[in-house]
Amino acid sequence: MLTLIKNATQIITVDTKGKNYKRGNEMKNLFPLFDHSILIENGVIKDFIPNSKKINVDEEIDASNCIVLPGLVECHTHSAFAGSRSNEFLMRLKGASYEEIAAAGGGIVSTMKAVRNSSFDDLLKLLNPKINHFISQGVTTLEIKSGYGLSFYDEIKLLQVINYFKKNSRINIIPTFLGAHTYPPEYKNDHKSYIDLIINQLLPYIKENNLADSIDAFLESSAFSYDEVDQIFNVAKKLGFNLRLHTDQFNSIGGIDLAIKHKINSVDHLEVINENDIEKISKSKIATVLLPGVSFFLDYQYAPARKLIDKNSIVALSTDYNPGSSHIPNIHLIMQLAALKLKMEIEEIISAVTINSSYALGISDKTGSIEIGKEASFSIFSAKDISEIIYNIGYNLIKYTISKGKIIYSNSELK
Ligand code: NIG
Ligand code: FE
Repeated sequence: MLTLIKNATQIITVDTKGKNYKRGNEMKNLFPLFDHSILIENGVIKDFIPNSKKINVDEEIDASNCIVLPGLVECHTHSAFAGSRSNEFLMRLKGASYEEIAAAGGGIVSTMKAVRNSSFDDLLKLLNPKINHFISQGVTTLEIKSGYGLSFYDEIKLLQVINYFKKNSRINIIPTFLGAHTYPPEYKNDHKSYIDLIINQLLPYIKENNLADSIDAFLESSAFSYDEVDQIFNVAKKLGFNLRLHTDQFNSIGGIDLAIKHKINSVDHLEVINENDIEKISKSKIATVLLPGVSFFLDYQYAPARKLIDKNSIVALSTDYNPGSSHIPNIHLIMQLAALKLKMEIEEIISAVTINSSYALGISDKTGSIEIGKEASFSIFSAKDISEIIYNIGYNLIKYTISKGKIIYSNSELK
């Protein structure tokens, strides 16, 4: 099956010349291609054809007046949850902090209760429209973490829900195990037993049943300590998992050193990262995933994106979509916040939500840029220039979402 995407005003390739990530200054180079069509064979990018050349294909997709970008990659979400925390939102508007609400028994634990009270089918029904919402934004890879079950049964239930969509969704769904999200109430005073549950039961079961390739942990004064995460990472690494870490959101307690020690895939958050750690992480091959939606939603400080990029870091962006700290299922708004608040340039932002997010997930050899041999997944914006993407706040410019060569979303009202 041959498909041609033709007449686009620009193809923003985000070419990496085979390197599969962009660091520092490289993030500005998007290598746009003009007057070309993309030839797709069986869901994979086969070639770039000059528009003047006529070829026979099975299907043509007309991208007139549009810009073609790689399918957007959402590398950090907690989309699989139940319940609402709008009451906590109101408490915060009245002055309570996110950490105070969590310490008083709200926060992650309140979502945990709602998830434990939900069946597999309930959770499927809740997650399905959220995935479709991301698809309508041009997202073709969506990472989803567990972390709201916090018992053997409920963490596996959540991972099974996410894996249902991994098998049945039209986009790439990437499950991540986040058992080390917070201590559930029954283990609040017995950390050792909860770590044992993760290490001795959950990790081996998840590996055996192929429920996730990556694990994540929350390293914070109010969550897991350096030594506790170190223990979990040691075992996870032996079992062959990719490692990721929520760190330096509220406290800087050694997360960057731990990440470098274990050569993990990504460090995520970094709102309070210090100068010394910026230097260290920028010299490593670890992706730094920035989540400006959290700062916006919590009215909190933003991560030092400019310093990270200027020091040569591999910066990615994501929504961190979750019910407590970033109830924002919208990658376009994150791109806009990155421009307005992180002072990132539009080219850097595009690299951050495509190839570098894909790199954070460990799949950038397959997706995240428009290079021959990669997955034919695209976000096609009805726009004359890439600046339109950050200028149109709250207006969806996606004309087509194409996943593995097939149109999975279209908006015929956009010209
Ligand atoms: O990435 N920080 C930990 N986890 C999420 C928040 C989860 C929640 O509040 O439900 C985050 O910000
Ligand atoms: Fe998160």
